[in-house]
Amino acid sequence: MKIKTCLTVLCAAVIAAGFSAQSALAAKIGVSMPTQSLQRWNQDGANMKTMLEKAGHQVELLYAGDNDIPTQVNQIENMIAHGDDVIVIASIDGSALTEVLKGAKEKKIPVIAYDRLIMNSDAVSYYATFDNFKVGEIQGKYIEEALKLKEAKGPFDIEFFTGPTDDNNVNFFWGGAMKILKPYLDSGKLVCKSGQTTKEQAATLNWNLEEAQKRMENIISSVGYAPDGTKLDAVLCSNDATANGVTNALLSNGYDASNMPVITGQDCDKPSVKNIKKGYQSMSVFKDTRTLAAQVVKMVDEIVAGKTVEVNDTKTYDNGTGVIPSYLCNPVAATKDNYKELLIDSGYYKEKDI
Ligand code: BGC
Repeated sequence: MKIKTCLTVLCAAVIAAGFSAQSALAAKIGVSMPTQSLQRWNQDGANMKTMLEKAGHQVELLYAGDNDIPTQVNQIENMIAHGDDVIVIASIDGSALTEVLKGAKEKKIPVIAYDRLIMNSDAVSYYATFDNFKVGEIQGKYIEEALKLKEAKGPFDIEFFTGPTDDNNVNFFWGGAMKILKPYLDSGKLVCKSGQTTKEQAATLNWNLEEAQKRMENIISSVGYAPDGTKLDAVLCSNDATANGVTNALLSNGYDASNMPVITGQDCDKPSVKNIKKGYQSMSVFKDTRTLAAQVVKMVDEIVAGKTVEVNDTKTYDNGTGVIPSYLCNPVAATKDNYKELLIDSGYYKEKDI
């Protein structure tokens, strides 16, 4: 009896100690995501919520409709008003949050920019993302190797599709790809018959698939690209949504797996992985959203515990108010040859999903 009482007291003490250790570090975390219309942000949001809750935090996860900037501003305003302890934001327009984040700064709420850098705000404490320049380089190098640009004589026809210029990542995706491809454009080995070779001309509003599809349709009819006409050799697409738009336009204009140009992408969204398997899209860049979410949860824990926050880049990402200490995760090329290992074996997708 005595022993039993003792054990009960001991158990209660251990539970209480454990609970207070956790609750001392538990915090209220606001997570603001841009849209539910693209698969990756649903995954990002879900991963963050699960991992933050597992770490003992309370989570307020909100999506800003379908890339609706006023909704995102409003949601962040509420997170600040509710007194969230840390706010994590994947911005829609990186420059649209300057005003609202003044409130976070006043209340000393740390802000983590998630995947996309938030510009012109000194309220941003940290930035966690993938190496965005490397994403562009991987895409550029893929085209360079697929067309054997180093040795072949050419010329080869190429077109360009990237994201909206209000997404700071676009500067890096574009910069990385152009570092590889621009010398070939300059020498004439690569030719862009539409003439649309600037980032602004290649931009796609909100990364919208239909927008990219429409622009590709227009280019096809104005240049006269066709499997048996002016052959198109490559389309640099900065992500999978734009790649899907371009692929749809080409398929409805007579292209098939036997004559598709080299098409790049990014995210390994399910429709793109399916297209890679069918031979419609050549590659995507795999950014394991689980890795990014885990890194951000680690940042949150370090902030809440008052520890030094781990970063691995302190020179690349200046948001207009100074360089934001960043953690860059590693992107990798995904193709027909390695998608199984990257996506299935790692448990990211089930074979039946793709
Ligand atoms: C992200 C990409 C994504 C794109 C569209 C970019 O900022 O880095 O992974 O494809 O936004 O959502």
